[in-house]
Amino acid sequence: MSEVRVLLLPGDGIGPEVLAEARALLEALGPATGLRFSFSDDLIGGAAIDAYGTPLREETIEAARQSDAVLLGAVGGPKWDYLPKATRPEAGLLGLRKELGLFANLRPVKVFDALADASPLKPEIVRGVDLLVVRELTGGLYFGQPSELVRGPEGRRAVDTLPYTEAEIARIVDLAFRLARERRRKVTSVDKANVLNTSQLWREVATEVASRYPEVTLEHALVDSCAMRLVSRPRDFDVLVMENLFGDILSDEAAVLAGSLGMLPSASLHGAPPSRPGSPARLFGLYEPVHGSAPDIAGRGIANPIGAILSAAMLLRWTLGQEAAATAVEAAVADVLDAGIRTADLAGSGTQPVGTAEFGRLVRERALARLSAG
Ligand code: NAD
Ligand code: IPM
Ligand code: MN
Repeated sequence: MSEVRVLLLPGDGIGPEVLAEARALLEALGPATGLRFSFSDDLIGGAAIDAYGTPLREETIEAARQSDAVLLGAVGGPKWDYLPKATRPEAGLLGLRKELGLFANLRPVKVFDALADASPLKPEIVRGVDLLVVRELTGGLYFGQPSELVRGPEGRRAVDTLPYTEAEIARIVDLAFRLARERRRKVTSVDKANVLNTSQLWREVATEVASRYPEVTLEHALVDSCAMRLVSRPRDFDVLVMENLFGDILSDEAAVLAGSLGMLPSASLHGAPPSRPGSPARLFGLYEPVHGSAPDIAGRGIANPIGAILSAAMLLRWTLGQEAAATAVEAAVADVLDAGIRTADLAGSGTQPVGTAEFGRLVRERALARLSAG
């Protein structure tokens, strides 16, 4: 049996609650996939600040480097909101992504049939949506220099900077094209080229990369009207690629299509996934739900674990090449939703919601049944 080393970083708020379900799922699927998961865990974010006085320790980065993959819950919360940027919980997550060189953040948004009426948008708009946000993760506004907040005698002044080199743009756009080639062969490159220099460069480089993929269509879209189209004509999109902050914002917007922010998973990678899942080489990845620590519902056992569970499915797919197991997990989530079972965020009035652990248990049961049925 081959060993898979997974570092668990539950983090804060609902992070530990949803991550427990992702872990239990991988553990349960181990025997059926011929894999033995060995888990280690560590603190990150607010939990690490409380224990060690820093949101991310060097030891944690090293432990991540020694692992095949990292599963992360969420970081942050009101308790640490007074801290300056560099020492906040969020700085721990940003530091981890940067240190590990995870420039490619894949955020798939697939609307489950059973949830077509869970969105505040009309079912006929969201039914069948299957898009992929490819977010650049280690550059742009999040990491630009200069970056400062000065409280001086003349008053307060702050600056953030949005830099991109052509190499940084080319590698993320190239990855988007590779992924689009295996999907519906359309890339929407999102920018603000009517205003920003970086966006003008982004558009130029995206056009150059596109010339290497004649079988894939490239469309350029301005981020403002793209945000509008994402909720009015979401089925127009296949793969969308964009800079860090645009990707952060548009992916939460896209969660509305799926019915809840609790639905979306993500994978952060440092290179192109093998074009055919199933290849034996392991690609390191950091897997985390798109949502945050949800302080408003933390500690009550009611969070939706689907984003975390689907992140574990992405780990099976992209790091381990276990396509059958990944598909079984996704289908298991659909089974449970088809049976009318919902967590509180998705339950309409008149539906009795189930808790995080119960939802996770039902998905495990269905995933195992599907895998052993072949
Ligand atoms: P959030 O994503 O935590 O919550 C937004 C809303 O969505 C809340 O009403 C919350 O209850 C709901 N929600 C989110 N996940 C849910 C789930 N799994 N099940 C049910 N409902 C869910 O965003 P926020 O409130 O803006 O941020 C809270 C904290 O989380 C902040 O400190 C922020 O920095 C942090 N954050 C962390 C990450 C991360 O670790 N990747 C991502 C986003 C925000
Ligand atoms: C996300 C989060 C993070 C981000 C924060 C917590 C730093 O919002 O993963 O989407 O902005 O990247
Ligand atoms: Mn975000």
